Parts: sequence; C-alpha cells; structure tokens
Amino acid sequence: MKAPQYPHYSKLRNILKEEQLDIYKNLTKKLSIIDSIDFNEVSIIKSSSRVLVMCYRGGIIKVIFAPNNIYKNELYYSHVLYPVNIYSLASLDGCMIFLPKYGLSLNKHKYSEIIKESHILERDICRQVMQLHSSFIVHNDIKPSNIVNTKNIPKDIYSWRIIDFGLSETHILSNPGRLYFENGTRDYNIPEFRKDITNLSESEQLFWIYMKDWYGVSRTFSELKNEESNTFSEFENKEEFKLNEEFVKPIVLGDVVKVFTKQINIELEYLYMYIDDMELSVILKVLRNLLKKHNIEETPYYLIV
Ligand SMILES: Nc1ncnc2c1ncn2[C@@H]1O[C@H](COP(=O)(O)OP(=O)(O)O)[C@@H](O)[C@H]1O
Ligand SMILES: [Mg+2]
Repeated sequence: MKAPQYPHYSKLRNILKEEQLDIYKNLTKKLSIIDSIDFNEVSIIKSSSRVLVMCYRGGIIKVIFAPNNIYKNELYYSHVLYPVNIYSLASLDGCMIFLPKYGLSLNKHKYSEIIKESHILERDICRQVMQLHSSFIVHNDIKPSNIVNTKNIPKDIYSWRIIDFGLSETHILSNPGRLYFENGTRDYNIPEFRKDITNLSESEQLFWIYMKDWYGVSRTFSELKNEESNTFSEFENKEEFKLNEEFVKPIVLGDVVKVFTKQINIELEYLYMYIDDMELSVILKVLRNLLKKHNIEETPYYLIV
C-alpha cells in the first residue's frame, strides 16, 4: 500500500485501524471528489469496527467496513427508503454511502424538548413502520439513535425519519428467508418471547419477526417517557412514583405529564410487554388503533383481515 497521499488519510489514521484505512484507501483512490473535500470541515459522528460516519457540509458520508454480501443490503434499502437519490461506491471489502444530512437523532433530544410534538413523532414513526411492513421489509434495528429529526430539510413529508438500514431484510410469506431473531440491539428490538418461537410454523415465526420492529418503537417511546419521569424524580419519592398506576394520575406531577398522557398513545408504550408475552389479540388491537389514530393507509399483511 502506498504512503498516504491525502491529508485526510493522516487525519483518519488516528481513528481507524490499519485494515480499515486500507479499505478506505481502496474506496477513495478512484474518487476524485474526495480530493476536493476540506477535511478540516469534516466531523466524525461515529467510528466503530464496522462503520465510520462523517459529516461534511450538508451531507453524511457513511463508510461500511464489511464485504459486499453484508453491505449490499444497507445499500439496497437505503436506495429504496431514502426520499432522494443515494450515491454510493463500493469495493470488494467496503462501501461508502453519501446521504442527506438530517438533524439530531432522538437519543440526543430530551423528552421535555419534544413533548409538544410527541404526537407527530408517534405518527411519523408508525407511518414509516407500516409502510416498510406493507412492502414486506423489516427494519430490524428501530431505536432512538436510528430516528433523526428532519426539520432542516425543507418540504420533507416527515418531521422524524427512521434511518440506518444495515439490518433490514425482506420477508415475504411464500419465501421468508432466514429469520434472525437475535439480530438487533438488546434492550431495544430483541423481544424476550414467552415461548420458543422456533417451534412455531413458518408464517407464525414471520409474524413475530415483524413484531421486532414494533418492539423497538414501543421501547423507544417508553424510554422517552421514563427518562422524563427521571426529571421528576428529584421532586418525588421514586418508589411512590413507580407505584402510581400507569403514570396517568397527573395530580402531583404537573402539566408536563398531563400533556404527555394526552399525546402519547398509552398503549403503544406498553406494546413491547405484550410482544414479550406474545399477546396476539392485544397486539393486533393496538396496531389497528394506530392505523386509525394516524389515518395510515398502508396496511401490513398481518393487519389485513
Ligand atoms: N443521514 C443522517 N443524518 C444525520 N445523522 C445521521 C445520518 N446518518 C447517521 N447519522 C448519525 O450517525 C449515527 C450512526 O449512523 P448509523 O447509520 O445509525 O450507523 P450504524 O449502522 O453504525 O448504527 C446515527 O445514530 C446518527 O446520529
Ligand atoms: Mg444506527
């Protein structure tokens, strides 16, 4: 491998491992545009063994250090699901995707900042998940860091978007493919199903795979709420607060909680528990309510009666 030619290699040298730097060089050596990037303006959002996410002016550059059988899914689903054309380049052992730059992800927001728009957040996320599922796509990694604010994008139909299709899969009834129940992020989108689902029929297993996404949505909303409750805990006895049934009694908790209970579908935040318990009829009821509540037309196959 040649000595680093471009200033950005030396900048990335401190962040990337040797093998990653080689993949990066292979990817960029034919990309003349990379020479014109001012690396003083590049900020690193995330660096791990699998990815490097950088921000440059109005865009995001995501480098995936993985062979093409792994990155091709992310590339494919990003093409399908981002509202604009996605540019990308690939080598044998890596890939670089150029994405529009959205705002901060949900994990970087405090619930008190977004409490007024929690209805919009719920609507946007539910609508996108229903859309994905009605196209037989399971995202497989829904969580706060994969939900970003899009207010910086003029005329975006959503205020919040689901991003990161690295684990997305197509599952159709006649050909479910391999079902990975363990794929995802523990505590967010890997349910602890009450029964061993691998003993179920193929179509039943498929249903519970789709439920992983709703599990992620539900955990996200319940976490938002609980974080907010932590803010109150300094004013309240925590134990007593927990015992307070369903948090719906706003007596001592003031206006913020009142707004909260009005705006968030109280059932959505418990949905992950119903999924853990495999309470089929309750789950379907909650999901049908969401379709109705947010006027969502795209109906996933499992909600079509
Ligand atoms: N298009 C984007 N706009 C704004 N921020 C982004 C964008 N893509 C990624 N990010 C930020 O970078 C982080 C990591 O990117 P992500 O695609 O989720 O990588 P990974 O596959 O490692 O989870 C996200 O949590 C988000 O904060
Ligand atoms: Mg992510």
